[in-house]
Amino acid sequence: MKIVPGMSSQALAARIAAELDCKVASCEFKRFPDGELYTRVQDDIKDEEVTIVQSIRTDSDLICLLQLIDAAEEAHKTKVVIPYLGYARQDKRFEPGEAISIRAIARSICAAGVVDTIYVVNVHNRGVLKYFDVNTKELDASPLIGDYVAKREIPHPVIIGPDGGAAELAKAVAAPYGFDYDVLEKTRISSEEVEIKAKELNVEGKNVVIVDDIISTGGTISEATAMLKSQGTHDVYVACIHGVFVQNAVPRMLHAGVKEIIATDTIESEFSKISIAKMVAEEK
Ligand code: R5P
Repeated sequence: MKIVPGMSSQALAARIAAELDCKVASCEFKRFPDGELYTRVQDDIKDEEVTIVQSIRTDSDLICLLQLIDAAEEAHKTKVVIPYLGYARQDKRFEPGEAISIRAIARSICAAGVVDTIYVVNVHNRGVLKYFDVNTKELDASPLIGDYVAKREIPHPVIIGPDGGAAELAKAVAAPYGFDYDVLEKTRISSEEVEIKAKELNVEGKNVVIVDDIISTGGTISEATAMLKSQGTHDVYVACIHGVFVQNAVPRMLHAGVKEIIATDTIESEFSKISIAKMVAEEK
């Protein structure tokens, strides 16, 4: 078996290969002068079982994944791990004429008929899995956040989900360790701005860990932090599965009073303090 590392998931692919004690295929990625992406799997993968690991955070990441799937045409079996499945928030037509982006992406990934199984991690809305017409499985990294918080020895943490969508995640992080947890109410005003409704919480002098599936602009976390700080919260930590961190997300959160930012390596960054490699390897 060989792990084929996509452009966006190089370190994670290597970690998965180490867990499985198997080889990482050597790949070449470069740009043509006009900006088009060139992708080549240099190892011979004909008749091999391969697992492609590639998050889709950008449009280029999707192109790279499609190229790797095409390059695996002669493999015996091709599995695909998409640690971060971008575009999953455009999961329906909010306005007439809009593309259901995640459906278009699912169709393009499955169209070649090469992929046998797909693994995704904490997809924003698991209803979108119906758009993939191959066997698709969602892996749940929330227990890994709970493990990290417990190991970090934050005294008596209260786990907070910043909106209803994060309720399940907050419970999954808190329950195994018996941490207290609660959920806030959020209204989205624009792609960058949100409003968090004031809520009386028992957080005075306590440490809080805000958990969310995705941190993008940091707007949600900044508003939630401000609200928690106004109620006398001691330290605010944030932990997410997918650290997208666009624009000024990191300074924005730190400025709001966040003490530490924690993410997994579904998207690789300096905040990837939790690895999903073992969890993925256990599925193989
Ligand atoms: C939305 O429902 C998601 O769970 C996240 O709360 C959201 O994507 C975070 O985005 P931002 O960091 O831009 O507020």
